[in-house]
Amino acid sequence: MFRHIATFIVTSLFVPHVHPSEYPRVETLQIPILVEQGRPETPGPQGLGGLGLLAANVTNPTTRAELALSALQIWYNAGTGLWNTAGWWNSANVLTMIGNLAKYDSSANVQNLAKKVFANSIMQAPAMNPQPGVEDQSSKTKRGNITFELAGSGYNKSIDANGEYITTYPEDWGRNNQAYVDINTLPISKAGDQVTTANVPDPDDWLDGFYDDDLWWALGWIGAYDVTKNIQYLQLAEGIFMAVTKAWPTNCGNGGIWWSWRKDYMNAIANELFLSTAAHLANRAENKGFYVDWAKRELDWFLGSGMINSRGTINDGLTANCKNNNRTTWSYNQGVILGGLVELNKASPNGTYLTLAAKIAKAAIKELSDDNGIIHDECGPLCGPDASQFKGIFVRNLQLLHAAAPDDAYVDSIQANADSIWENNRDVGNMLSINWAGPYIAPANATTHSSAMDALVAAITVK
Ligand SMILES: *[C@@H]1O[C@H](CO)[C@@H](O)[C@H](O)[C@H]1NC(C)=O
Ligand SMILES: *[C@@H]1O[C@H](CO)[C@@H](O)[C@H](O)[C@H]1NC(C)=O
Ligand SMILES: *[C@@H]1O[C@H](CO)[C@@H](O)[C@H](O)[C@H]1NC(C)=O
Ligand SMILES: *[C@@H]1O[C@H](CO)[C@@H](O)[C@H](O)[C@H]1NC(C)=O
Ligand SMILES: *[C@@H]1O[C@H](CO)[C@@H](O)[C@H](O)[C@H]1NC(C)=O
Ligand SMILES: *[C@@H]1O[C@H](CO)[C@@H](O)[C@H](O)[C@H]1NC(C)=O
Repeated sequence: MFRHIATFIVTSLFVPHVHPSEYPRVETLQIPILVEQGRPETPGPQGLGGLGLLAANVTNPTTRAELALSALQIWYNAGTGLWNTAGWWNSANVLTMIGNLAKYDSSANVQNLAKKVFANSIMQAPAMNPQPGVEDQSSKTKRGNITFELAGSGYNKSIDANGEYITTYPEDWGRNNQAYVDINTLPISKAGDQVTTANVPDPDDWLDGFYDDDLWWALGWIGAYDVTKNIQYLQLAEGIFMAVTKAWPTNCGNGGIWWSWRKDYMNAIANELFLSTAAHLANRAENKGFYVDWAKRELDWFLGSGMINSRGTINDGLTANCKNNNRTTWSYNQGVILGGLVELNKASPNGTYLTLAAKIAKAAIKELSDDNGIIHDECGPLCGPDASQFKGIFVRNLQLLHAAAPDDAYVDSIQANADSIWENNRDVGNMLSINWAGPYIAPANATTHSSAMDALVAAITVK
């Protein structure tokens, strides 16, 4: 075929974590990745028009996703376990997307890459947690003589005048001058296919005081468990979930979880993620009843909260007086609940769950799609680093609903978006930008690219 292994070289500093002594400190490292033949060594449109045409003619959804995966991995930094240009919580979503691809694409390349990324990221990424330990103060002592002052961590999330989420990171966080480390040289990979983690993963490593962030990671590790059946990933997700239960209840209706440790906002996303994580765990962990109970409690609270509006879509959150605040109906808030309801229905069937999911999904498709069926968030196409992740999360969960309760409307939406991404929103390096309707807006980054890949991955299952 037209793929081969190419080597990309990026220089700089490797930040070791967990077992520094086990890792070589290297200044020039190489990451071999799958690429389309002849791809330039730096991403961008330079001089490969002919090959762009070739990719343009790829219609097989699995091949499209594999080509996009190759492009994605240019951003994967084995030294941090995250994707350069993607934020902390965004990287959890990249991990989730890769897990989904590995569920639907059994090729050895994808399987190996997914397993190695999981095994490497679980070791490296904790050092990148921008604000460790607020849910469990004792975790501070586990970081040796490094102390983290919450107020001064430099990590913050807020909502601007347009209702858009803004995350600020500590100075120097995720600077792109950290080296690419060849994932194949890490100790984690030496055992070949049997990639396991060296230490028992610590849930505290994945908590940063914003419960949505915490739960994105929990879902990512549940995906890793699904692919590998490595129980450590599942137990990590359970530990994260347990920590977040401490954020229950809010002062609205004696239930729900807060957005963050500040306890100053109740938003839909944190609560949908709480529902979805509990429901996913109910179908996988030993203590099924416990998780079913949490999922049902959350759902009942959510339904009573008024966050679902009269059009059937979900607004961003609640006012201080516990009323729907009528803020933006972000695409991801129409998505996460779908996967939660599908998993809850599987764990504890109730005729209302999938009916509700279908109602939300159809209302969302109507509200968020343009005349060609292409999904947009209100901020589009100039969404910031947070909102640029959202659309893929919607489509990822729409696919889960379709698998449980098939409907042509979902197939049409998934295919229209995946086709438009491939045809109108891709550069010759197969980078995918923010604008699913097109045209491609340079530069793409790991956030826009992975979000678009969620749609490509969903398209594999509905072809
Ligand atoms: C791609 O397909 C178009 C028609 O859809 C055709 O004109 C073109 O020659 C094809 N290009 C390649 C490289 O196969
Ligand atoms: C942290 O502790 C290590 C080992 O005790 C020591 O080498 C290092 O200098 C300390 N770092 C700081 C910033 O105090
Ligand atoms: C963090 O965001 C909150 C909510 O917008 C704001 O009240 C607070 O002042 C911010 N804190 C810092 C340190 O920027
Ligand atoms: C909610 O916001 C929409 C615009 O986003 C506006 O048209 C509508 O009137 C608002 N509804 C309420 C109850 O404030
Ligand atoms: C089904 O779920 C709905 C919504 O949570 C709930 O009100 C209802 O009591 C449930 N029905 C049964 C039989 O449990
Ligand atoms: C990624 O692209 C989006 C959309 O163009 C942009 O808003 C965002 O700031 C970019 N992220 C980074 C880290 O540059």
